[in-house]
Amino acid sequence: MVYSRSLRLLAPAKINLHLRVAPPGADGFHPLLSWMVTLGLSDTLTLTLFPPPETPFPGNTPVASLTCDDPMLPCDASNLILRAAHLFAGAIIAGPTEKATRDLDVQRLGSANITTVNIDLQKRIPMGAGLGGGSSDGATALRALNRFWDAGWSAAALGNLSATLGSDLPFFFHGPSSICTGRGQFVRPIPSPAVKWAALLLPNIHMPTPAVYKRFDQMRLGDSATLRDEPNWLAWAKMPAQELLPHLVNDLEAPAFAICPELGDLRERAERLAGRTVRMSGSGSSLFTLYDSKQEATAAAQLLEAKLSQRAVAVEVAPDPAEE
Ligand code: C5P
Repeated sequence: MVYSRSLRLLAPAKINLHLRVAPPGADGFHPLLSWMVTLGLSDTLTLTLFPPPETPFPGNTPVASLTCDDPMLPCDASNLILRAAHLFAGAIIAGPTEKATRDLDVQRLGSANITTVNIDLQKRIPMGAGLGGGSSDGATALRALNRFWDAGWSAAALGNLSATLGSDLPFFFHGPSSICTGRGQFVRPIPSPAVKWAALLLPNIHMPTPAVYKRFDQMRLGDSATLRDEPNWLAWAKMPAQELLPHLVNDLEAPAFAICPELGDLRERAERLAGRTVRMSGSGSSLFTLYDSKQEATAAAQLLEAKLSQRAVAVEVAPDPAEE
């Protein structure tokens, strides 16, 4: 068996350029239609063999432990990275078509060549910002462990497994530019947008996704018809920033701004300052607008940061996936 002793992978952020949401189905989840793109803003996962295989593993799960440079991030078994590691180890033992086993006994792990691993997370994507940081970390952990454990699963099989951990994870097996439907788990890649830059405003506000969906229901929002007639994505992908922006919608803005009026005010002020449409990503709190050049996006981010006293950065939209 050959496995890497150390492996480093980037976990990129995403934004929802366009997000239509329908009323919930019987499972309580909301059917959606979203154009998602990755961003040139990433967390980094570094996997190392830990402790040596012959030593009994004292970590947070039978197969993995987690360390992080951000003290605010819980590194216990609730973290998506550790949940992904536990789920994947069970699925490897069971095989891709079987229901994963939850009890990971040491003998079975050993015979599947599953070694204990420490995952060190460098956190750069703000949390509770609608940028998919936790989901990207979980998806990247699966990709990395697939190599580390030499499991040989296809991206499609990993994507299917990841859907059980959260609606946003499967996208990260298909980025950088995809249409997501269902609760988000059905992913269809499309060409990357011609628009290559965003000014991303990162308010110091944490938006809880379930609460935003709950308010969406209380406000009786959503129309299934908006999911049926899909836009001409190929035409949208070719448009320059000022032509594309007025087409973009996020149905979660109304409930997010109802919960946090300060965020709605920030969006309006940002729109006036930038002189162009500003949208929220996912369930918030990050806000973005789009540019055709890095220079324009950088100037806009500097202006927004200075005038709104909130962090703002220029980031590349749908960068080519890094060579790993
Ligand atoms: O799938 P994920 O764990 O990211 O979802 C977090 C919460 O967001 C869910 O518990 C649910 O309340 C809400 N959600 C939803 N419909 C979706 C995605 C998420 O209602 N399509």
